[in-house]
Amino acid sequence: MEAAGRLAAALSGARRVTVLTGAGLSAGSGIPTFRGAGGLWRNFRAEDLATPEAFRRDPETVWEWYEMRRAAIAAARPNAAHRTIAAWSRRYERFALVTQNVDGLHEDAGTLGVVRFHGSIWRVACADGCAEGSASTGAGACPPEGWEDRRVPLPERPPRCPACGGLARPGVVWFGERIPGETLAAALDAASCDVFVVAGTSALVTPAAGLVEEAQGRGAFTAEVNPEATPATVSVDVAIAGKAEEVLPAVERMIAERAAER
Ligand code: OAD
Repeated sequence: MEAAGRLAAALSGARRVTVLTGAGLSAGSGIPTFRGAGGLWRNFRAEDLATPEAFRRDPETVWEWYEMRRAAIAAARPNAAHRTIAAWSRRYERFALVTQNVDGLHEDAGTLGVVRFHGSIWRVACADGCAEGSASTGAGACPPEGWEDRRVPLPERPPRCPACGGLARPGVVWFGERIPGETLAAALDAASCDVFVVAGTSALVTPAAGLVEEAQGRGAFTAEVNPEATPATVSVDVAIAGKAEEVLPAVERMIAERAAER
């Protein structure tokens, strides 16, 4: 656990901490990851399901897949990794959690300062453009950021926009879509920190993956927590090979021990 000790030492002296998470963080809660063993993209092709083109072609199938994921997530609870990060979010002077996960488990654990990079699976938005004001429905009928709907299953599939009756879509960011400007700005701002921890992500999908390098360029101590090697493994200051739900609580115990010794 020498590597974990180095992260604990860095965190013990830190004022500004940022954590970037991906699907591996929720693996310990029983939610499948996208890539890797048993990953969601092993059985489904991303371009068949998580793109605007796929939705235009076959909204029924895309919704079926999201309904399956909503059901799995509804049954899941935050794990020890989510809880450790939540504790950090209340401790450090400046804290940010940038997550690519759409499951909401970080919020359920009580984490403050969450930047949701890829949206939320619990939000639904009009896909027919009534927010911009389509000719048939009148301007600004429903909010551009969509609405929350936690019903599992949804009463209607595909769901409809309550304002214009048009087709509704999951409130997530798909491949080929832009991260909202404010979200991107918040994530880039969070890259200015003392310690940057990247946990449970394959570090393949941009722009999230680029944040590690950005933080490093700005002088942060960088650490990765992942049972497998990723493109980030070779460049971080310390790579900890292990499961987030085991490593992060262990790091937290080391931080407490260091504090007790002082
Ligand atoms: P991936 O499925 O690509 O990667 C999950 C990572 O978690 C892998 O590197 C695993 O080794 C690691 N992992 C598995 N179990 C773990 C555990 N218990 N503790 C720590 N790590 C573990 O998921 P993401 O990196 O989140 O985007 O994928 C990024 C984006 O690609 C997703 O947000 C999604 C996907 O397509 C969109 O849908 C737009």
